[in-house]
Amino acid sequence: MSTFTIDTSTSRATPSPVPGKRMTAPSIRARKIADGDGFKTEQPVVMLTAYTMRMAQLLDPHCDILLVGDSLGQVIYGLPSTIPVTMEMMCAHGAAVVRGSWHALVAVDMPFGSYEGSPQTAFDSAARIMKETGCAGVKLEGGEAMAPTIEFMTRRGIPVIGHVGLTPQAVNTLGGYGARGREEHEAAKIVADAKAVADAGAFCIVVEGVIEPIATEVARSVPAPAIGIGASADCDGQVLVIDDMLGMFERTPRFVKRYDDLATRIGEAARTYADEVRSRRFPTADQTYKPKS
Ligand code: KIV
Repeated sequence: MSTFTIDTSTSRATPSPVPGKRMTAPSIRARKIADGDGFKTEQPVVMLTAYTMRMAQLLDPHCDILLVGDSLGQVIYGLPSTIPVTMEMMCAHGAAVVRGSWHALVAVDMPFGSYEGSPQTAFDSAARIMKETGCAGVKLEGGEAMAPTIEFMTRRGIPVIGHVGLTPQAVNTLGGYGARGREEHEAAKIVADAKAVADAGAFCIVVEGVIEPIATEVARSVPAPAIGIGASADCDGQVLVIDDMLGMFERTPRFVKRYDDLATRIGEAARTYADEVRSRRFPTADQTYKPKS
């Protein structure tokens, strides 16, 4: 078992609140209820990505789901896409996020190449992720083609989050990161994908980069919560990449709302520190150890 509890005797580990019962996959899925000839959610699902223990501690009280997204490839490792992300990366960051949280359901992305080959391969990869991280679910990309795999996994104890629309691991076949669903046949495929994934047992579905009316149709027509990113306010919940919403990057994609400008604030703090080191104003007597008297 490679999940450890946090050593609260060190100054960088803020003690977590008394552990309670985490959100569960069935409780998330149960938020979607029948509504006439469609479905709706009264309490939207709050999801953010997290990749580190400390960030998980800060986000956990506010989120239903913490997603250890394979976006960590770009956000943490500076990779050009999510394609090179490995199981080792996902397991290491997944375990850190589980250690830093007690309330939210932690779901870990399955990296490209770890699940597409066969349902058995997907099960084996997901089982490894769950054993090594302690997470309570995994996410994988794909629609109708992945439905038999999702059914195989959920029937064997693995809660799965689906991901349809713009699926970044398929960037080479999609030809880019543009919004999906503008063509009629593409729109129909996205709705069919979401239905297939929900019917296969996914407890919620990320709907990424889909034009608004189609995202709204998905939310209305599938029996599992549709979590939007670049989708629609009518979705049953929303997810953002934490570094995007905190303003860590210069470029802000259209679907991102910046809730802070951390890049500027970090730069200012580093410049002040550098000035004080160069002028010997840091450290002061407050930050230095004195001989015992
Ligand atoms: O990898 C990721 O962070 C994701 C979210 C954008 C949903 O898949």
